[in-house]
This record gives sequence, C-alpha cells and structure tokens, in this order.
Amino acid sequence: MHLIETRNLCYSYPGSVKALEGINFIAPRNSRIAVMGSNGAGKSTLFKHFNGIFKPTAGTVHIRGEPITKANIREVRKFVGIVFQNPDDQIFAPTVALDVAFGPTNLGLDEETIHHRVEEALRITGIEHIADRVPHHLSGGEKKRVAIAGAIAMEPEVLVLDEPTAGLDPKGVHDLLGFINDLKKKSGMTVIFSTHDVSLIPEIADYIYVMDKGRIVAQGSVAEVFVQTELLRSVRLDVPLYPKLIQSLQEKGIPVEMAFTFEEAETAFLEAFKGRS
Ligand SMILES: Nc1ncnc2c1ncn2[C@@H]1O[C@H](COP(=O)(O)OP(=O)(O)OP(=O)(O)O)[C@@H](O)[C@H]1O
Ligand SMILES: [Mg+2]
Repeated sequence: MHLIETRNLCYSYPGSVKALEGINFIAPRNSRIAVMGSNGAGKSTLFKHFNGIFKPTAGTVHIRGEPITKANIREVRKFVGIVFQNPDDQIFAPTVALDVAFGPTNLGLDEETIHHRVEEALRITGIEHIADRVPHHLSGGEKKRVAIAGAIAMEPEVLVLDEPTAGLDPKGVHDLLGFINDLKKKSGMTVIFSTHDVSLIPEIADYIYVMDKGRIVAQGSVAEVFVQTELLRSVRLDVPLYPKLIQSLQEKGIPVEMAFTFEEAETAFLEAFKGRS
C-alpha cells in the first residue's frame, strides 16, 4: 500500500482547459520525490490533490489505500502537510510563533508538546529571531520559512513542499537540504517537492516525475531521468550542471564517469585526473 497514489487523475479548473490529464503518481513510504515541470505544467494543481484541497474531475486519489472522503479529510490533512508555493496563502496568525503553533494547537496537543514542536520548527528553519514579529511584514524568504516551519511543526507523515527553495538565500537552501536529508535518517517522513532548481534534485530526490502540459512525460531515478537530455529540453527543462558538464567532456573523448551530486562529481573528477600532474 502506497502513502499516496493517484489513478488516472484528471483535473480541469472551472471553465478552463485541462490542468491534469491521466496522472498516475505513487509516493512510497520514506521516499524523496521531486516533481519537475516548466511554468504551468500542473505541479501545484497536482499537489493540491494530495490532501483534498482539490477534488479530481476524473480518476482517484488514494491516501494509505483509501480514497479521500468527507469522513476522513481531517485525518488526511494531519497525515499530508502541504507548504504552498505562495506563503501568503497560509500565514494568518498575529505573530510568527503563533502561526507555527496554529497547526499543532488544532491537533489538540498539550501545551508542552506544542511549545517543543514550535521551538524545534523555528530552529530548523532558522527563524527563532523573528518569533515575535508580525508575519505580514516579513520578507518573502522569511515568510517562506514561516510556512515551512508551520508544516514541520505538524509532523505529518508526508510533507509536500511546492517550490520550497524559491526566495530562500543560499544558507536557507543549504539548511533546508540538510533538514530534508536528516528526515530520511531520523524519521520515516516522506517528502514530495517541486523545484525549478534542477541542481538541487540529485542532492535530495530518489525518484523524479517530469510533468508537461498536465501529463507525466518521464519518471524514474535521478540517473534514469537526467540522461534524457533531449526530452527535458523539449519540455523547457534543464539537466543539472554536473551531468551536463560530464556529458560534454565525454563527447570530447575525456573519460569521466557520469555523476549527479557534488560528492559523486568530485569522486569522478578525482578518479579521471588521478596520476596527472
Ligand atoms: N485558479 C486557476 N484557474 C484557472 N486555471 C488555473 C488556475 N491555477 C492554475 N491554472 C492553470 O492550470 C495549469 C497548471 O497550473 P499550475 O499552477 O498547477 O502549474 P505549475 O506547474 O505549478 O507552474 P509554476 O511552475 O508556474 O508554479 C496552468 O495552465 C494554469 O494556467
Ligand atoms: Mg506551481
């Protein structure tokens, strides 16, 4: 049984063209799934089906093997936490700390647990220093961190992050990567995220879906997807820097092993240049 499974999911916005067509998406337990796609591909629309914000026009969404219904929607929202692309869509409370506490309070947790979760979420997202500020007056990246902290504090089993790094500074991106990679080791939390920053994907993801015009046009491991250079280009996407560089060197007859992450690339280059002065 998969945590999330969509079967032939289709969605049309009222009076508009189809935004999703025949999506078969699976999120296994403890996976890190990246969803790639150019602007308008349907990433955000798909994500909003994962906790019942949108209802499919056709097809189904199953959470832990059960379709989403009115009777289980509260449970589903506890189970699947979403950070929207635009943080203004989910920040309401008068202070940052109260905003982050909103979800855990709604879960009916005791005060000590709420306090602990809020502190931890503020620490992970690096925003302890703005805990008492009015969210409305924060910068874009600060708001993004507040929205992420709010979702983390809920401790959902599936964390869905729509463009989590957009607007974050390099330290913010680095910390978020560290947090997601730590989650894999510490808890069984599953993470689904979208990003236009392709170089981040190999550092986190173990599976990738590529979307274009509401459909899934490719899927597979990092190594399977990022060698499909032509396909990616045809849907206005790019290949990360390391495989791109290595492919170009290989075409010039320089033998460097294919690599996708920083660590893999470092090893591949050291190996290729071993023994040379
Ligand atoms: N509220 C809406 N009403 C009508 N059409 C919409 C609405 N929101 C999105 N769409 C359309 O649905 C399609 C998919 O949009 P979606 O926001 O899911 O794309 P996306 O992959 O998240 O893009 P981006 O990378 O820009 O965030 C687009 O054609 C978009 O114009
Ligand atoms: Mg989007």
